[in-house]
Amino acid sequence: MAISDVQLLQAWRDVLKLSNLKAGETVTILTSSDTNKQNLTAARNAAIDLGAVLTVVDLPPTNGDIALSRDKVAFMGKTALQGNKAAMAALKQSDLVIDLMLLLFSPEQAEILSGGTRMLLAVEPPEVLMRLKPTVDDRRRVLAAAAHLGSARKMTVTSKAGTNLECDLGEFPVLTEYGFADQPGRWDHWPSGFLATWPNEKTAHGTIVIDRGDILLPFKSYVQEPIRFNIKDGYVQNMEGGFDAEFLKSYMDSFNDREVYAISHVGWGLQPRAQWTALGLYDKEATIGMDARAFYGNFLFSTGPNTEAGGKRDTPCHMDIPLRNCSVSLDGVPMTINGNIVVEEQKAA
Ligand SMILES: [Fe+2]
Repeated sequence: MAISDVQLLQAWRDVLKLSNLKAGETVTILTSSDTNKQNLTAARNAAIDLGAVLTVVDLPPTNGDIALSRDKVAFMGKTALQGNKAAMAALKQSDLVIDLMLLLFSPEQAEILSGGTRMLLAVEPPEVLMRLKPTVDDRRRVLAAAAHLGSARKMTVTSKAGTNLECDLGEFPVLTEYGFADQPGRWDHWPSGFLATWPNEKTAHGTIVIDRGDILLPFKSYVQEPIRFNIKDGYVQNMEGGFDAEFLKSYMDSFNDREVYAISHVGWGLQPRAQWTALGLYDKEATIGMDARAFYGNFLFSTGPNTEAGGKRDTPCHMDIPLRNCSVSLDGVPMTINGNIVVEEQKAA
């Protein structure tokens, strides 16, 4: 269903307040040609209403001539900020950047954050933003999980479908996404509600079985025939299965880059309002699939770059793959069992 302008304005006010926006702070909204106009209007009005000093920076689209789709998380190429000193100056001088364009995985984003600017990404359509509007309780549960993940040295993931993965942890930071940017230098994404980290380089090993019903992003498709990843030294060495495996391998091979087969972030979903089924109801270009990334109790892993975590692996192909019915343990302590959250302080009310 459509969302009224009044509802959306109130939601933006709530989320900007959660992001600690104060009167007199400098806010810059980053837009591009495919920015959702209803979101832009609501974000502008909410920021002005809360007393912000507002600028809107609109940048040209990039990578359209080389990417295989319009999905902006499907291709991690250069951003329109590369070499744009004027735009960078505006963004770096801001207390809060509202990213309605999508800068993720860019050195420019890291540079903006390093000066203490807060950043909030929001590119999902208004009805997804409304349904998954973040709460203080989302933050509490994500941070409780992060306390476990930040001190863990080994992650183990198993499933009845055949997943049996192990990796060492500690080399890379923990990424928390609870939906608002409330601390200096914090980046967050509305909507979300999950956490992740990256395996120590070359340590991920074992098997991941992407079972029937698990989701491949950015294809936004539900797997019909299981895909088996055999993983050694941090890379998918080969994959087995039927049509889905053939399709996925062909796509990943098209980048002609071994790094696309590296295991990237690993973590689990904590958002009870995100739905495994939501992607089945959307046109593929209408969403980037945050329901799939965040649904409660998933095991979300990915392949490709780790530059976002400070690593050196820079490759444009990034697959996010949420699995159902997995059991995730840290140093032998279960976080999820068969896709259910089992740690009390991580459970939704
Ligand atoms: Fe990802």
